[in-house]
Amino acid sequence: PPGTTTAPDGGLRIGGCHVTDLAARHGTPALLIDEGALRDRAGRYADGLAARRPDSMVAFASKAFPCTAVYRLLAEEGLGVDVASGGELALALAAGTDPAKVIVHGNAKSEGYLRAALEAGVGLVVIDNFDDIDRLEHLMARVKAPGPGRREQPVLVRVTPDVRPDTHDAVSTGQRGSKFGLLLPQAREAIARLRGSARLRLDGLHVHIGSQILDTEPFVRAVAAVAELGRFPVYDLGGGLGARYTYDDRPPGIEAYLDALTAAADELLPAGARVIIEPGRSMVAEAGVSLYRVVTVKRSGGETFAAVDGGMGDNLEVPLYGQRFEATVATRVRAPADGPPGEWCRVVGRHCESGDVLSTGVFLQDPRPGDLIAVPATGAYTYSLANNYNAARRPPVVFCRDGRSRPVVRRETYADLMRRDLP
Ligand code: LLP
Repeated sequence: PPGTTTAPDGGLRIGGCHVTDLAARHGTPALLIDEGALRDRAGRYADGLAARRPDSMVAFASKAFPCTAVYRLLAEEGLGVDVASGGELALALAAGTDPAKVIVHGNAKSEGYLRAALEAGVGLVVIDNFDDIDRLEHLMARVKAPGPGRREQPVLVRVTPDVRPDTHDAVSTGQRGSKFGLLLPQAREAIARLRGSARLRLDGLHVHIGSQILDTEPFVRAVAAVAELGRFPVYDLGGGLGARYTYDDRPPGIEAYLDALTAAADELLPAGARVIIEPGRSMVAEAGVSLYRVVTVKRSGGETFAAVDGGMGDNLEVPLYGQRFEATVATRVRAPADGPPGEWCRVVGRHCESGDVLSTGVFLQDPRPGDLIAVPATGAYTYSLANNYNAARRPPVVFCRDGRSRPVVRRETYADLMRRDLP
């Protein structure tokens, strides 16, 4: 995986740190983040978009990894943030994100969430439905927004363009029948209402068609769809670029994606318009590696199961979307020529659910109890969807860089699991 190297003893190194040391220091399971790789991707996104469209912003879709250390790191790299809840907003602000670079999303935004957003002075609120307009109008008359004389909140209208990318149904959002956004006729109606609003300033349109999209063509179709709605100063083109999870995945690179998107924007959108994008998965997925320890190896029904000390508690991508991951014995990445043969295995978790699988059809080098297993490309939607099934303690997040590792989120304790229980 990117950012990893192999030590002379055949062990995996992440951000220059050897997996054996990482496991000894931080335990397993653990979510290891190659900090250099993450900063590099953030820089490629921010600089790459700015080079192609000078007036632009990259806003990290923070639902992919809503942890204060990640918000802080991306703020340092100059990125904005997309939040989709009051919780994500609170985390972003606590981490020092500039409120002017915050984009507020959600298909069911509570009054409390919107109030907090307006009080913080967020840059943009994305209108998903007509109730958003009513609620914002109502709040704008009451909330003291920061900044002298700020009486108008900039907003975008989220358009459902009826574009269906070739991805899993559960992560497809731009088609007719989606719960997100407004189909073109309703979007026109919302635009007309907002043009008449004294307190909301319609800056432009937003579109997001789905996630883990592996070619650039659907993005171009989405730009074409929003271009039909008229000319605006701002277009937020969402996220959705796929990540490389398996050796067979060939997502477009960041630069190829930016090329296609900005070419479409140059051709179809007004010349001076500000372009915003909201990458989530493609920003963080490949910077993460999950580290587990093998608890047992079972050969049964013609299959070999390597069962590890984590699973769907820390990674729900497989049960939810059938996402495919690779896996490797982390101390024997390069198999010794005279060593024992490898075998095809299924890496399964420790939870009481048959769908609790991490990797299927992976070739492991003689897996044994006690071995460390690395599952690459687990930086996106793992921390955010982690849960306490079977009263599992959620794993730590460890930043690795230049041979040094530092935990930025500690492992949960059993006391944490009882912290909200009342006598
Ligand atoms: N913008 C909006 C408005 C979104 O709803 C999303 C993702 C993004 C940007 C970022 O999309 P990305 O670049 O990450 O594809 N939980 C699912 C993914 C759901 C994506 C939801 N929206 C999963 O684990 O696959």
